[in-house]
Amino acid sequence: MAAPADVVERHNELKQTLNHHNHQYYVLDEPEIPDAEYDRLFQELKTLEGEYAELVSPDSPSQRVGAAPLSAFETVRHEMPMLSLDNAFSAEDLRAFDKRIRERLKSVDAIAYACEPKYDGIAISLLYRDGILVRGATRGDGETGEDITQNVKTIGTVPLKINADDVPSLLEVRGEIYMPHRGFEKFNQQAQDKGEKVFVNPRNAASGSLRQLDPAITAKRPLVLCAYSIGVVDGGAMPAQHSKILDKLGQWGFHISEHRRVANDIEGCLEYYAYLENLRPDLPFDIDGIVFKVDAIETQQQLGFVSRAPRWAIAHKFPAQEEVTVLRDVEFQVGRTGAITPVAKLEPVFVGGVTVSNATLHNKDEINRLQVKIGDTVVIRRAGDVIPQVVSVVKSKRPDGAKDIVFPEACPVCGSPVAAKEGEAVYRCDGGIVCEAQRKEAIKHFASRHALDIDGLGDKIVEQLVDKGLVHSVADLFTLQHKDLAGLERMGSKSAENLLAALEKSKETTLARFIYALGIREVGQATAKNLAQHFGTLDKVREASDETLQTVTDIGPIVAGFIVEFFEQSQNNEVVDALVKVGVTWPDVEVKQDQPLKGLTYVLTGTLEKMTRQEAKEILEAHGAKVSGSVSAKTHCVVAGPGAGSKLSKAQDLGVEVIDEDAFIAFVEGLKA
Ligand code: IVH
Repeated sequence: MAAPADVVERHNELKQTLNHHNHQYYVLDEPEIPDAEYDRLFQELKTLEGEYAELVSPDSPSQRVGAAPLSAFETVRHEMPMLSLDNAFSAEDLRAFDKRIRERLKSVDAIAYACEPKYDGIAISLLYRDGILVRGATRGDGETGEDITQNVKTIGTVPLKINADDVPSLLEVRGEIYMPHRGFEKFNQQAQDKGEKVFVNPRNAASGSLRQLDPAITAKRPLVLCAYSIGVVDGGAMPAQHSKILDKLGQWGFHISEHRRVANDIEGCLEYYAYLENLRPDLPFDIDGIVFKVDAIETQQQLGFVSRAPRWAIAHKFPAQEEVTVLRDVEFQVGRTGAITPVAKLEPVFVGGVTVSNATLHNKDEINRLQVKIGDTVVIRRAGDVIPQVVSVVKSKRPDGAKDIVFPEACPVCGSPVAAKEGEAVYRCDGGIVCEAQRKEAIKHFASRHALDIDGLGDKIVEQLVDKGLVHSVADLFTLQHKDLAGLERMGSKSAENLLAALEKSKETTLARFIYALGIREVGQATAKNLAQHFGTLDKVREASDETLQTVTDIGPIVAGFIVEFFEQSQNNEVVDALVKVGVTWPDVEVKQDQPLKGLTYVLTGTLEKMTRQEAKEILEAHGAKVSGSVSAKTHCVVAGPGAGSKLSKAQDLGVEVIDEDAFIAFVEGLKA
């Protein structure tokens, strides 16, 4: 029996609603309805399709899952070959690329380039006929790939249908499928718990997940598609600039890089490289370089291709972040809070732009997870300024005499017992300030830049001061004499004088710095600042109950517990009192009763010219606002300077208020009045 009109209508409505929520959830990361509600709507759709089989269409959300396993993938021929990119490894390479292009074009004008991250995943082609996804294929050798349509359909960021009236009747969208770090770690953890195969990196995980014959398996993998170009287009037109094409794909529901930008010339590309290299360690996914593409499509066509790569694009690669070396030994370091960290002593290796001979093994659980032994060949990863880490073991290279790593039962420095609290992976020395290692680390932290900022009190000096018994607690720093310091290694009479002057100067500090300097567990700069602003005086922080502490911004039960515990210990209070006695002071903080911007989220984007972004952020936070890095429907206002890009357009799309720097300054002045 054919479905009655009202059923067809309801089915269409459900399809649209579910596709909308899918987009909100996967592409925009802003779910509007709870999962249970989504499931209910999905169930309703499935029921209708169960009753009337003719309702099942290729763009129905039900088609994301449920296809039967295949026995093999079919081969498909790409209508337009999927090319690769030439690489640049230095600024010279990049400038030479630009020069070649301008020579070929016989042009002296600067070329505008579209700049994008180079995703480290799997290249994919998606074919849309009349807006409906009809085929998903791997790149393969560039000429032919594998048909993985049913697998790509399970990926939330892949639109099954493009809902727009200006879509060409045939459109190929190309992009990269990758697994974000968080999903990768979670997936590997689960695989390990079940005794299944773990993947060495997110790229292999993405590749392995896409090449599953059973789409139900792919559906469970946290994959993301980022669209970065188009292939065949027929029966319709696309914009004349690459950057505008991506904007269009974004409007049509594809996820596109929020970090993309257009540089006006090759020097702008180099600035972009520095910008993204800096951002790279904080990105939630792997990138291995940057892709620069001539923005004007007409110019791209004029330039054409040479063998397998376009003349109009280049990949500027980052230095490799992973290398292989040998684990020589493991040492155990004791941190400020007594945490015992196993440190891998390595055969030195050049990775991520520096020579690395130490890497962290984090904790006992991590050693067990890696199943690493001394003598093993290991993969080392160094990303940005993050401490290098051991990521995996090349088991096939294990030598005969490989030794087990024995975790110490007593602190290697003070001999106190070492134990882990229930549910914690970290083992700690319970020696507290009796432990020389903890004392040294506490003093280094106290003197560090964001704490009391004691110029000239470096790690080596602190170690000597503690070793010689000149300093037991941080308060002793302020009673040091010239003769105590002048006798230390690396310290002449003049340096000793300078250090004494720096100590004197550091006594005048702020409440937030002082709280941070105490080194209370989990109380970083931001928390210290929140505490200072909330309570205004140190005594109020000291007296605050667990419940009161939890009313402070971003403080939950765990951190509140650490703060209470800290001030319950008499030796800590003695040190605080001693510091005040030797003259460490700070102005009390005026506690703002009314925080006019409390509960409001601001986003800063583009270049601010009259103040730094950090200053703008501090002003907003001082008035109670939250400053976020991304725009969503919950954003109250976006402050946009010149050069603002995707955040600005997103704000405009969402109808979020946007103001420029002058309006912002006027607004802030108004708050003071
Ligand atoms: S454009 C002709 N853009 O890099 C242009 N590729 O060696 C070809 N890739 O296999 C691709 N991020 O999978 C382009 N933003 C991006 C990319 C990107 C990653 C990969 C792509 C390709 C390889 C090229």
